[in-house]
Amino acid sequence: MLVLVTGGTGTTGSRVSAGVEELGHQARRAGRRAPSADAGGEHVLFDWAKAETHGPALEGVEAVYLLPPVGVADPAPMMLPFIDRALTAGVSRFVLLSASVIPEGSPGVGTVHEALRQRVGEWAVLQPSWFMQNFTGSHPYAESIRSESSIATSTGDARVSFVDADDIAAVAVRSLLDSQSHNRAHVITGPEALSYGEVAAIVSDAAGRPVRHLDVDPADVQRSLIAAGLPEAFAEILVNLEGVVRSGAEDRVTDTVESITGRPPISFRAHAEANAQAFAERG
Ligand SMILES: NC(=O)c1ccc[n+]([C@@H]2O[C@H](COP(=O)([O-])OP(=O)(O)OC[C@H]3O[C@@H](n4cnc5c(N)ncnc54)[C@H](OP(=O)(O)O)[C@@H]3O)[C@@H](O)[C@H]2O)c1
Repeated sequence: MLVLVTGGTGTTGSRVSAGVEELGHQARRAGRRAPSADAGGEHVLFDWAKAETHGPALEGVEAVYLLPPVGVADPAPMMLPFIDRALTAGVSRFVLLSASVIPEGSPGVGTVHEALRQRVGEWAVLQPSWFMQNFTGSHPYAESIRSESSIATSTGDARVSFVDADDIAAVAVRSLLDSQSHNRAHVITGPEALSYGEVAAIVSDAAGRPVRHLDVDPADVQRSLIAAGLPEAFAEILVNLEGVVRSGAEDRVTDTVESITGRPPISFRAHAEANAQAFAERG
């Protein structure tokens, strides 16, 4: 089977592509920039905003992993015509990456979720909680761990059931390749809900140096996201999502990872130990 993986060079898409290939299928990674020559695997230039890149990406494809364009407040006007075009081109299955905080039918990605249920025969929607990978790489939390030894949020002591991108990708791969289509939404969490203070304590243990959680005003979070280069509308969405966390909405765990993949989800402590070197870095 040939699977088109939009966002194929990103956090989840790279893992989904590798997982599809490990099971003996073909993954076509799609994105705006060609990966480095040594990255390996098939890649196609693809831009959600450029419809002329959509046809070539869809040639011969049977299933699509849909990663919404990053940083776009309402991706539905780009994604819905693409889904129609993919159906016409013969794609039979779609797996959308949404988020636990985005209800079906809500503006933006929630509209795409609803359209899949209504228009498509074979589909699944992934609704992960917050990614453990937000604390490594180029995410603003990761940068402040390196530069300030702190994580600033407006979430107070509220807990989040952080999930490893490896587990999200494992559920995605099963949703793409299982002979019986799932035709449902999967709320995906890690094994336990943690406050950002508890996350900071685990990161401190792994890093071998103190990392603190700073509970700050939502307006301060918004200012720092904009200063980090995020568009204003997107920074506002993220700050509103911290309000959802503050209300306790993310303080719950599901059995999705174990029931779909047959193995338990990765804990934040195991994730932190595996990334100890990244957490120890300063700068
Ligand atoms: N972080 C969290 O805690 C969290 C929690 C729940 C849900 N989510 C959802 O996860 C998604 C992000 O997933 P991710 O972390 O796997 O992504 P990511 O690591 O940010 O990677 C984004 C990928 O999309 C491609 N891309 C970006 N804009 C594009 C465009 N306009 N056209 C075509 N390709 C484009 C990028 O490649 P190029 O730059 O080369 O195009 C890259 O491959 C978001 O939709 C977010 O809502 C995140």
